[in-house]
Amino acid sequence: MNVLQVSAEIFPLLKTGGLADIAGALPGALNAVGCDVRVLLPGFASILADLEAASVLAEVTAPWGERVRVCQGRLSTLGINAYVIDSPHLYHRPGTPYEDERRQPHADNHRRFALLGWVGAQLALGLDAHWQPQVVHSHDWHAGLTSAYMAFLPHRSQRVASVFTVHNLAYQGLFAPSYFYDLGLPHEAFAVNGLEFHGLVSFMKAGLFYADHITTVSPTYAQEIQAPEQGCGLDGLLRTRRTELSGILNAVDEAIWNPAIDRQIGFNYAARNPAGKARCKAAVQQELGLQVQAEAPLFGVVSRLTEQKGLHLLLGTLQAILGRGGQLVVLGTGESALETAFMAQAALHPGVVSVRIGYDETFAHKIFSATDVTLVPSRFEPCGLTQMYGLKYGSLPLVHRVGGLADTVVDCSLEELAEERANGFVFNHFTTQALERAIGRAFALYARKSEWNLVRARGMGQALGWEVAATQYAALYQHLCA
Ligand code: ADP
Ligand code: GLC
Repeated sequence: MNVLQVSAEIFPLLKTGGLADIAGALPGALNAVGCDVRVLLPGFASILADLEAASVLAEVTAPWGERVRVCQGRLSTLGINAYVIDSPHLYHRPGTPYEDERRQPHADNHRRFALLGWVGAQLALGLDAHWQPQVVHSHDWHAGLTSAYMAFLPHRSQRVASVFTVHNLAYQGLFAPSYFYDLGLPHEAFAVNGLEFHGLVSFMKAGLFYADHITTVSPTYAQEIQAPEQGCGLDGLLRTRRTELSGILNAVDEAIWNPAIDRQIGFNYAARNPAGKARCKAAVQQELGLQVQAEAPLFGVVSRLTEQKGLHLLLGTLQAILGRGGQLVVLGTGESALETAFMAQAALHPGVVSVRIGYDETFAHKIFSATDVTLVPSRFEPCGLTQMYGLKYGSLPLVHRVGGLADTVVDCSLEELAEERANGFVFNHFTTQALERAIGRAFALYARKSEWNLVRARGMGQALGWEVAATQYAALYQHLCA
């Protein structure tokens, strides 16, 4: 089964969030279950620099008339075959892939990401005479136009199936209607039954409307987005497509997130030999200027600092941690109001709260290795990866019961403890009181060392690898191609 994966990011070459982790892990996982996966990426500098044995596959004309080169080669870091759109003036810029240094969206984002979909569709149409995808699997709004372009391709004898995965419905890729004429889609596409959304062009809706099948990154999120509260205005469409919508739970790349072999942490350890974890904790406390106390429960946050992540709840409950002798370490970047609020807490509570604003992959690994609890109080969470990284590293996740968090964390209630299912702490209502009570449960369990150790060992031993998800994606591809 030849599968073309289309995404804007890929770990470790370019990452702003969990999308990159998934895009980086999925090709290898799918290859292991018998697929032949190639990836299509925009030619950001770090991606082009990694492309070895590169050659020009073709020059294509973008819908707005610009000629661009499509290169092919092998991503040396990942060891996978890739097509890369080589257009420095579109992709080589300061800032993030989506925003400039002043955190404003790049003014030509519609072209930068339409091109990704356009080239994806050209590959579906046979741009590479030596490799024909049977499935084109695109991710999030950046690649959303792929399915739309494919839907309007000239008829071919061999059908190519399109799959669109929603990693986060809240980011939709909305553009002014005048931009539609740049996209090279037929007029009829700019309609309610198409990619029009309240008078705007929606790349997300293009994916949702035109893909043969839609997946989300957890089963619970696939249900949640069919209702108004989390549907972001697209729940009606998603309900009409419910028979072609399913959730496949993300997984953990265990070659990268594994405390037994992780070179980015101070000391390696495993469920059966956890001693190194205490040493990691002491080292990080020392490094951050926190009081070096083995018995102080250390809570950690590794997150984008956005409204989605529910961290304002945490700011309102800090005393529930500090008042009981706990400590907090935060690594994150995002909205300046949240950055400022966390920095202020660090200044107010030296020795017990440490905050680092920024993006730092190695420090993220160190935090999971050092902390006792990983906090993920998200208001909504399509899947969430940090709660799973917490599990792997023996840092019990404390989460809001929503999306993928609900699918991966089982609360330490007495019943769940008795049935040996508990692996963390879960609160139901998105309120400071509910979060406080969950924090209270974490302290109560922490005081019962042997039970804590049992729960921690269970989490660390959980099978969170890609085998299950890869098998589910492969089965979906087979079904669509049958
Ligand atoms: P989202 O994709 O919504 O941001 P996920 O939990 O799916 O949330 O994935 C977040 C990914 O980004 C994880 O790999 C996490 O470790 C990483 N991450 C988030 N913020 C930072 C940061 N400031 N520094 C390093 N890694 C971070
Ligand atoms: C998105 C979601 C997150 C998910 C990630 C990877 O960024 O916010 O919940 O884990 O994509 O699928």
